[in-house]
Amino acid sequence: MASSSGYFFVLSIMAILSQFLSAPTSALTNREYIDANCQRVKNKTFCVDTLTTYPPTVSATGLLPLAEAVINLAIAHAEKTAGFAADTAKNEAALKTQFNQCHDAYVAIVASLKSASLELKETPDTANYDVMVSGDDTSRVKDLIGKNLDKSSKTLMDMTLQMDKLLDLAAGATDAVDDDDENILRRT
Ligand SMILES: *[C@@H]1O[C@H](CO)[C@@H](O)[C@H](O)[C@H]1NC(C)=O
Repeated sequence: MASSSGYFFVLSIMAILSQFLSAPTSALTNREYIDANCQRVKNKTFCVDTLTTYPPTVSATGLLPLAEAVINLAIAHAEKTAGFAADTAKNEAALKTQFNQCHDAYVAIVASLKSASLELKETPDTANYDVMVSGDDTSRVKDLIGKNLDKSSKTLMDMTLQMDKLLDLAAGATDAVDDDDENILRRT
């Protein structure tokens, strides 16, 4: 009797363990991770086009590494745009004040996205929040230079619309990681 219940105890432990151990075999393909990410964005076509042609997202084998790669893509664009704003502020006296403020906004975006990347694993909901608040910074840039007619302002405006699109992809990526965590909690 005692040994039989012990046997069933061991069996149930093994059954529980095998659920964890078998989890990796049910791992999704890269494209399924990209779809999970892109289901949570405003423009799915842009999302799929972007994530299936950027090597770090194409090689991601989980929602977490995919989200890291997407955030890195957004950081790279924010850094490039911050550099453009700083150079223009230096070279075009008439735009100096506005472009310095735009530069500050992009520095804030880079900082938020770097925090998001660090928070992704433990608190993906906070990471998602940090991505979302960057939308306030792109709005600030659009308010500052959106009505200007010069070439540099137009370029910065284009880069800022692209930033919004990449932030949307990053928001979808962090949301997918957050959702996945909740599903794991629900299962156990
Ligand atoms: C969505 O993205 C595609 C591909 O980048 C683009 O052609 C299209 O205009 C976008 N749609 C919207 C509503 O922004």
